[in-house]
Amino acid sequence: MKVLGILGSPRPDGNTATLLRHVLEGAAAQGATTTTISANNLTVRDCTNCDGCKRTGQCVLNDDMQEIYSKINESDVIILASPNYMGGIAGNLKLVIDRLYLYISVTETGELRTTIQSSKNVALLITQNAPEEYTQYSAAFTPLRGILHLIFQGNFDTPAELLVAPSMKGPRSVADNAQLLQKAYALGAGLVQKK
Ligand SMILES: Cc1cc2nc3c(=O)[nH]c(=O)nc-3n(C[C@H](O)[C@H](O)[C@H](O)COP(=O)(O)O)c2cc1C
Repeated sequence: MKVLGILGSPRPDGNTATLLRHVLEGAAAQGATTTTISANNLTVRDCTNCDGCKRTGQCVLNDDMQEIYSKINESDVIILASPNYMGGIAGNLKLVIDRLYLYISVTETGELRTTIQSSKNVALLITQNAPEEYTQYSAAFTPLRGILHLIFQGNFDTPAELLVAPSMKGPRSVADNAQLLQKAYALGAGLVQKK
């Protein structure tokens, strides 16, 4: 069982990295092999909507996304982790997610389908300064969770799992929140157990 974490925070020891690490530890405790990719350290260009992937199944852009495609294809569980930046995900992770367009095909009747070879459990982790009560913040991620579920599980029906770490006061806030770390660990374990 392989679990891939894709980190969208530029801070290697910040809240998002810490939360992701605990999710992966939970997965590893269930026997999974875990890998983390930091999107901030890679060069991933914008999807150009050339539709080359629709003709060949390959992305024509020869950059670090090719390595991410390989890692995604060989993984059973995908975890995307980002700080909340201006009500959405960080730009470096957005570039990666846009390039997942490779896995989406549109039928003649306009329905979206995934081209992923094997389904994968998927979760989105978000850290943010806003408190939990800002429910509109979490709601803002619902469409993305639906798309992630479509890509990795084949349909929009259930949005991908979401774990939000609210009320961050500084880069060590998650590290000081034992309850949240426990939740993250349990999420990682659960994603592997459900596979
Ligand atoms: C450019 C930028 C935009 C941000 N926008 C928001 C926001 O819209 N809402 C929010 O609650 N926090 C926002 N934050 C705070 C971060 O989401 C929060 O501090 C997060 O935990 C940082 O994660 P990190 O420690 O992994 O870098 C923003 C931070 C930055 C740097």
